[in-house]
Amino acid sequence: MKNICIMGTGYVGLVTGACLADLGNRVRCVDIDAEKIKILNDGKLPIYEPGLQELITNNVSRERLSFSEDISGSIRKSEVIFISVGTPSDGDGKVNLLYVEGAAEMIAQNLNDFKVIVNKSTVSVGTGKRLMEIIEKKSPSKAEFEVVSNPEFLREGSAINDFMHPDRIVIGTNSERAYGIITEIYGPLYLIETPFIKTSIETAELIKYASNAFLSVKISFINEIANICDKTGADVHVVARAMGLDGRISPKFLHAGPGFGGSCFPKDILGLVQLAKERGISPVLVEAAIKVNNAQRKVMVEKLKKLVPNLGGKTIAILGLAFKPNTDDVRESPALDIIKILLEEGCTVNAYDPVALDNAKKAIPEINCYDNMMDACEGADSVMIMTEWNELRQIDLIMLKEKLGAPNMVDCKNIYDPVKMKEEGFNYLSVGRPLLEAD
Ligand code: UDX
Repeated sequence: MKNICIMGTGYVGLVTGACLADLGNRVRCVDIDAEKIKILNDGKLPIYEPGLQELITNNVSRERLSFSEDISGSIRKSEVIFISVGTPSDGDGKVNLLYVEGAAEMIAQNLNDFKVIVNKSTVSVGTGKRLMEIIEKKSPSKAEFEVVSNPEFLREGSAINDFMHPDRIVIGTNSERAYGIITEIYGPLYLIETPFIKTSIETAELIKYASNAFLSVKISFINEIANICDKTGADVHVVARAMGLDGRISPKFLHAGPGFGGSCFPKDILGLVQLAKERGISPVLVEAAIKVNNAQRKVMVEKLKKLVPNLGGKTIAILGLAFKPNTDDVRESPALDIIKILLEEGCTVNAYDPVALDNAKKAIPEINCYDNMMDACEGADSVMIMTEWNELRQIDLIMLKEKLGAPNMVDCKNIYDPVKMKEEGFNYLSVGRPLLEAD
């Protein structure tokens, strides 16, 4: 059992804190945002993540997990401190380290004993070293400490499972003592043979960027292939399946769609571009992935225009607003990018999402939000499916057709069968699956 302090109660901090408490540690989660701490102490969650509420309630009641505004006291009582504060992108894609450095300063002020400081926030290469310098310089006590880079690979919507069953745990440190403490914390996962990667801080920092950039490139690649399928009559599902059966390629992250979104990929890939450019390297491949991703939003609108040629004054129903299912996160969501284009074209946008309506409305107040998907579709000139929520996979198509003003559907997530949709009487377009011959 370790005394652990988690700085930052965002998505990564909360999941990490709850899971580490569940593994038997005493975890104190702190945040500079008093409102967030109040919400958590009232037994509520500032974010939506399946299973997290139960995990938190359970561990709070067992007194292994607590939330506090007392940052100094929580640091002083802890041997291990995880930094999981926000790292927003500056305009040019550079990672803003204001909060990470602020956390390091607070740790320095409260360094009453040996501590391991574990950075989980995604930061540019070299930040670990910078944190060491800050703490060394600003610590009045001069107590010993070690800095570790331990990037997270949690996917929103399945974060708890990802934490408990990781593909790998990357531990970047030059200190055997720190490595021993961190492997002890992750020990229960090690028992199920989780591979640890022990490496330098810089390598650990780059692993995170390289992994997310690779997956982003993979998605943009299959989207480019899907666009070629649309023009040639080939079917991207079959292409992706056949590619994925090649063990060197793997079938994962080969789903064509409106492009990637979320809090990580778009930001991290820009961060990597910036990092490379600062060192005189032109990251052509990664930049191309960004370009394809941005263009893919417009490809979806062009599909819609095939069904509804003059968008001005038309009503479009958007089903799914979150950047992916099982989250209320709309950051960099393809749905929101597409809604912005539709609004510019003069459309009225009606939208439904099981959990992300409030966040979407905050981001784009012009959206008409509906708690019921059929109400959102009432009289609409077309429906667009933007998130592959389970409940959107089994829509009552007869009712949908009755509700819509015209039986048009652009399925940006390829969750329906083109042949069946045609039989049901829909004008149906999806991504990289032209029905008969090339269009
Ligand atoms: C990602 C990484 O997977 C995770 O390891 C990292 O720590 C944080 O960023 P997340 O953003 O939660 O996780 O979602 P992910 O499931 O990776 O999907 C990201 C985006 O890619 C979503 O918009 C998703 O719809 C899109 N995507 C994913 C595709 O378009 N096609 C695919 O085949 C897979």
